[in-house]
Amino acid sequence: MPASAASKRVDGPAADISANGGAAQALGCDPHRFWLDAYRAVRAETERRAAFLSAEDQVVQSMPDASPTKWHRAHVTWFFEQFLLRKFCPGYEPFDPRFAYLFNSYYVAAGPRHARPQRGLITRPGAAEVTAYRAHVDRAVAALIESTTDLAPLVPIIEIGLNHEQQHQELLLTDILHAFSFNATDPAYDPHWQWPTQANPTSAQTLVAGIHRIGHDGDGFCFDNEQPAHQVVLRPVRLATSLVTNGEWLEFIADGGYQTPTLWLSDGIAAVEARGWTAPGYWKKIDDVWFALTLGGLRRVEPARPVCHVSYYEADAFARWAGKDLPTEGEWEAAALGGALGDAFGIVWQWTRSAYAPYPGYRATEGALGEYNGKFMVNQMVLRGSSLATPAGHSRPSYRNFFYPSARWQFTGLRLAEYER
Ligand SMILES: [Fe+2]
Repeated sequence: MPASAASKRVDGPAADISANGGAAQALGCDPHRFWLDAYRAVRAETERRAAFLSAEDQVVQSMPDASPTKWHRAHVTWFFEQFLLRKFCPGYEPFDPRFAYLFNSYYVAAGPRHARPQRGLITRPGAAEVTAYRAHVDRAVAALIESTTDLAPLVPIIEIGLNHEQQHQELLLTDILHAFSFNATDPAYDPHWQWPTQANPTSAQTLVAGIHRIGHDGDGFCFDNEQPAHQVVLRPVRLATSLVTNGEWLEFIADGGYQTPTLWLSDGIAAVEARGWTAPGYWKKIDDVWFALTLGGLRRVEPARPVCHVSYYEADAFARWAGKDLPTEGEWEAAALGGALGDAFGIVWQWTRSAYAPYPGYRATEGALGEYNGKFMVNQMVLRGSSLATPAGHSRPSYRNFFYPSARWQFTGLRLAEYER
């Protein structure tokens, strides 16, 4: 994701990066050891995910929005090199100075960069050399953390670097699934992959109304787009405690949902016609039975599972067909904080009808890291929760994900809202 911004934390490692916004306290823990362990754990998770993929898998780029696995692995490494080692490690020798051009994503202040749509054309360095690059940077970061006598100024950079890498861990999976969708043999990323456990779907709703405080103002890490925390006034609204299911989506399809222009936004029906959408992403009908490409390969569409790989346009049309609405992000967060939303995290990101805009009083962080979130605050929609591809601990009620309304290669679904009439 166009990853988000900079932590406001500047003091010691009071926050565990795995904390669900609540800051697991590292009480009694040596801060050097704490951050070294956190660094190694996150870096290892990236390699664990990439290990399912061959060197050939790691080169492919299936569309401009998706990046090769190899590029993700190198880019998150460049992030530590650029923002941590160059600043805090005098005498640091880059693994290869040319990599800054190849693996800078969109940081204009950090220098020129390779064109995003052409990342799949980078055959060199190969996957093995990227592994060596990662090891080179890992040694330097570990030595820096262990040897520094003033850890405090490093912590915000280490912390955002780790959260940034976790975001790319999710993209690594969504991007390779998109690449595999072009292969008629329906490759499995992991043949043993299973859907995460979910709550049984129900028709229950939870009511939110009145004045609520949203945004992040507690302990622990957050991206800058989650701040400042502020109050919102909510008209009484009932949010579904369950996610919309494949079974409900099949009813929408059977009712001609994709062929009924009055259900769609103008841009939405244009996307349906231009892209030939007749079902969620990765669905295909074989002998009159719907299947979907998953991380475990081609699997039969199960009616009780949450619908996945739908765009904002589709979510919006479905809500209109159902006679309901998508919640705003403030409604979603208030309900989530109330603890009444089932499957809020870890299954599918949930589209809201809130445009991705700065919170009142927001200011981007100064310097190159200020480009992390702020410059993307137009023309995109907010999603809340987290998905099956989100790394453990990388979610919290105030987290704001954002994508263009036509995007559906992420693990995206929805829940409905209903206003008091
Ligand atoms: Fe990034």
